[in-house]
Amino acid sequence: MVLGLLLLGRLSASADDPFNNPPGVDIWCGKAYRPEDAAFDPGGWLNAPEPSRFLLLDLRVFPRMSVYTADDSEGSFILEARTSRTRGIPYCSGNIQRHDVFSVDPVELAFEVSDAETGRTLVTGLEAPALSISHEVSISIGDLMPRFAPYTINVKLILPDCDQIYTTSTKIFRLPRRDDGGGVTKIDQLYGGLMVQDYLSNSTEWKPLFPFSYYVSWGGWLEQDLTQVDAFKAAGYNIIHVVPGGGYPPVNWTTFEQFFDLCDELGLWVMYDLRHTYQNRTLLSDQISRFASRKSLLLWYTADEPDGHCDPLEAPKTALGRIRELDPWHPVSLCLNCANFHYEEYSAGADIILSDVYPVAVNTSYSEVYGTVCNTTYGCCGCDNCEGRLSDVSDRLDAFRRYQDWLGTAPPKSFWGVPQAFGDEMFWRRNPTPEEEVAMVALSVNHDAKGIVGWIYPTTDSIAAATRALARVVTSEEITAFLLGSSTQSLEVHSPPAAVDAAAWVRESKMLVSVVNSGRATQARVSIILPEMVVGIAASKWGDGSGWKAAGRELSRNGLGKYEVDIVVLDLA
Ligand SMILES: *[C@@H]1O[C@H](CO)[C@@H](O)[C@H](O)[C@H]1NC(C)=O
Ligand SMILES: *[C@@H]1O[C@H](CO)[C@@H](O)[C@H](O)[C@H]1NC(C)=O
Ligand SMILES: *[C@@H]1O[C@H](CO)[C@@H](O)[C@H](O)[C@H]1NC(C)=O
Ligand SMILES: *[C@@H]1O[C@H](CO)[C@@H](O)[C@H](O)[C@H]1NC(C)=O
Ligand SMILES: *[C@@H]1O[C@H](CO)[C@@H](O)[C@H](O)[C@H]1NC(C)=O
Repeated sequence: MVLGLLLLGRLSASADDPFNNPPGVDIWCGKAYRPEDAAFDPGGWLNAPEPSRFLLLDLRVFPRMSVYTADDSEGSFILEARTSRTRGIPYCSGNIQRHDVFSVDPVELAFEVSDAETGRTLVTGLEAPALSISHEVSISIGDLMPRFAPYTINVKLILPDCDQIYTTSTKIFRLPRRDDGGGVTKIDQLYGGLMVQDYLSNSTEWKPLFPFSYYVSWGGWLEQDLTQVDAFKAAGYNIIHVVPGGGYPPVNWTTFEQFFDLCDELGLWVMYDLRHTYQNRTLLSDQISRFASRKSLLLWYTADEPDGHCDPLEAPKTALGRIRELDPWHPVSLCLNCANFHYEEYSAGADIILSDVYPVAVNTSYSEVYGTVCNTTYGCCGCDNCEGRLSDVSDRLDAFRRYQDWLGTAPPKSFWGVPQAFGDEMFWRRNPTPEEEVAMVALSVNHDAKGIVGWIYPTTDSIAAATRALARVVTSEEITAFLLGSSTQSLEVHSPPAAVDAAAWVRESKMLVSVVNSGRATQARVSIILPEMVVGIAASKWGDGSGWKAAGRELSRNGLGKYEVDIVVLDLA
């Protein structure tokens, strides 16, 4: 993160390694930021594709789980179908121009799973679903021999409107069973959440895990007293992300092995950070071999703000390939800091993209640190192309999802949020208040973040108290089941003139609704339009819960406090 690097006095990528800057010019997010350097176009900006003259069918196919293993005999894949003006193949050869083209008539959907190595077809299937945003197709995978190489799923679709044939394909993994004591983390690529097994009870059941935690200072805190690991877990955080020092080894291995022993015993999941070493093949391999079979290892984290530092564009992807060879059982994550700088190349290096937008008490148009303005081609203000309001956090997540959509990435990336839990240094005049902290978490979750890892712990007592309480709510079995077991639906809100943001998740007979007022208090009536009919409020999970009324397709209340967050469960009609 920016913070740690500033403290080490090396904010920029040093002028010799980046690729887009004039000689000797320090840059962040590709931009010059020192007053003596002139602005230049940093490039690397991802734009919306040119619209097509034709209506397009945008088809994406990917397995439901990032990996299956020898223990799985059933699997599935997701077929997503959307109409688009920017991606896909002309719908019915361009002869149909309506927007609501999907015929109610079923499509013919044929698929086969084959072995690219032998050319053999192993499984075939035929279905006749209606085209929809997301259709799940079950496949029996018991006959796919477990191995490290993937199998291919070929999908053929015949549209009823015009008999046009579409083909697409994806890869599916059925990995061997682990025999080294290590665990497996799957990504449910339909909803974006992690799935794990509780090894403490030897359970074979896969359960969703919503990571709620912090980047944790190692040298400055945890290393000095490992008993803090117990306290951290007891506080309600379900994973831990240790920030290593520089050099090699990045931590004292003896102490770190003891730390891992504690995490193994406690069932505290570890997000292992390779920020200083992911570009060195030897050091990367050394660490992967060292920790890949730890029971509590949850996932890897490679590049920390590679877009800020202007790491070589291919570096994260190269590291991802190397990690997959050594450890195909765990996902890989990285964190992006810039608004729009070589997103395509950097995001190709991970399954999970974290976004660290720090908008609290920061001047986003003028950098007091460097004495320059900040704009889309110049300056470093601590929050790239931000407005300096809490909704910068959710705007960035929306932007990343839009980029993914333009790129047509399948499987989709998962996004996690990194809320600001520091301040009073460099660009940031103070720490967030607990209310701001909770609001940033809620804005992230409302905009589809599937994990929260704040920067940085230890934080202020008041922020820690707020996140302890919120962690218990978000990671509870009931709430996690909503967040990772259904799609996030953004809701229409009428709340003049307040900046109210709301999202819903529907499961069985209940609806979870999360409401955030990211701006000033309002006395006005706030009306939230729900995606389904409800009969009332079943429970309030966060906020005082009073004053809300739920009936029909509306959740409403008179007035909402500044930065107020309310999380309620409603009964469906
Ligand atoms: C889980 O399995 C291990 C190894 O077989 C055994 O030692 C341990 O007691 C088991 N734990 C539980 C909670 O069943
Ligand atoms: C690592 O920590 C152990 C245990 O505290 C200590 O004995 C050892 O000297 C440390 N190693 C290094 C290289 O500092
Ligand atoms: C990787 O790190 C090792 C150990 O620090 C070093 O000897 C080696 O030169 C590095 N490799 C590269 C390619 O930088
Ligand atoms: C940012 O700094 C500039 C220059 O000092 C000042 O004019 C402006 O009001 C500041 N904006 C905020 C939001 O603090
Ligand atoms: C950003 O500010 C710099 C320095 O004032 C200026 O040269 C540049 O034209 C500005 N860029 C944009 C896009 O306004």
